[in-house]
Amino acid sequence: MDDKEGAKVWIEGRVVDAREARISVFDHGLLYGDGIFEGMRVYGGAVFRLEDHLRRFAYGARAIGISLDGGVEATRKIVLETARAYGRDEAYIRLLLTRGQGALGVDPTTCENPQQICIVTRIHLYPEEKLARGIDLVTSSLRRPAPDTIDPGMKSLNYLNSVLAKREARLRGADEALILNARGYIAEASVANVFACRDGVLMTPPPSEGALPGITRASVLEIGADLGMETRECALGRLDLFAADEVFLTGSGARIVPVATLDGEALGGSAIGQTGRGSITRRIEEAFSDFVLKHGTAIA
Ligand SMILES: Cc1ncc(COP(=O)(O)O)c(C=O)c1O
Repeated sequence: MDDKEGAKVWIEGRVVDAREARISVFDHGLLYGDGIFEGMRVYGGAVFRLEDHLRRFAYGARAIGISLDGGVEATRKIVLETARAYGRDEAYIRLLLTRGQGALGVDPTTCENPQQICIVTRIHLYPEEKLARGIDLVTSSLRRPAPDTIDPGMKSLNYLNSVLAKREARLRGADEALILNARGYIAEASVANVFACRDGVLMTPPPSEGALPGITRASVLEIGADLGMETRECALGRLDLFAADEVFLTGSGARIVPVATLDGEALGGSAIGQTGRGSITRRIEEAFSDFVLKHGTAIA
C-alpha cells in the first residue's frame, strides 16, 4: 500500500521511497522497543503544531538518554524535507528515534549511533462509516502501566500495552479500547485521549491518571474554551461516560472521533441521534478544521 501511496522515508541522511528504506535487525528499536516516536499531520500544506511535537520528541529523547543528532533544528529540517518530498497537502508523519544498532542484549551502551527515521504517508484508523456513526468502545482488561514502569506520558516505541488492548477490542467486535489505570479511572484509549461532555462542560482525564498529554487534546481544550465552554481536566470513571451527553476521542492519527457505544451500551442518549455526532462534537470538529489551518508550519 505504501508504495502505491508514494510514501516517503527519511533514513540515513536522505529521502527514499518506502520500499528502499531499510534498518538493521540489530537496531535496539526493533529488538527492545528502545526509542521514541511522534505522529503528526499535515493539513493544507502545513505541519500542525510542529513545534509542540518537536518539543515532546526532544523531551522523550532526553528522558531516555538518546541524543538528537543536530538537535531539534536538524529534526525539524528532516520532517519538512520528507513532507515536501511526499508533496501532498494532507499527510500523516511518523517520526522515530531509535537507540540504533548494538550488540544482542539490552545494554544500550553498546549502541553508538541513534537512528532517526521520518515516514510520510496516509493513515486511516477507522472506517468512514464508523467515523460517521460513532465508534464502539470496550473496556480493556489491560490497565495503563504506572508511571514508575513505562511512563504513559512518553511516546516510547514500546506500545505493547496499546497493541494488546486494541487487539482485545477488535477480537470482541469493537473498534477501540477504553483503558483504565490501576485505580480504575479512565486513562485513555489505545492511542487517543478521551473526552466527555456533560451539561456544557468538557472533561478529560489529566496526565496524572495515565493520559498522554496529547497535542490534539490540548488543542481541543483550547477550542472548547474559545467556544465559551467550561473545560476540566479531572479523573473520570466509566460511569461518567455513560452519564455524558457526548463522548469523543482525540489524537493526531484519529483526529476527533465520536464514540457511539461503550461495552455494548449506547452513549449520549438521544443527543447523538442518527448521525453519531452530537452537536458539541460537531461544533468542536468544525472549529478544529479551522484551528489546524491556523497552527501549521508550511512545508513549502
Ligand atoms: C497513547 C496515546 N494517547 C494519546 C495520543 C494522542 O496524542 P496526540 O494528540 O498528541 O497525537 C497518542 C498519539 O499517538 C497516543 O499514542
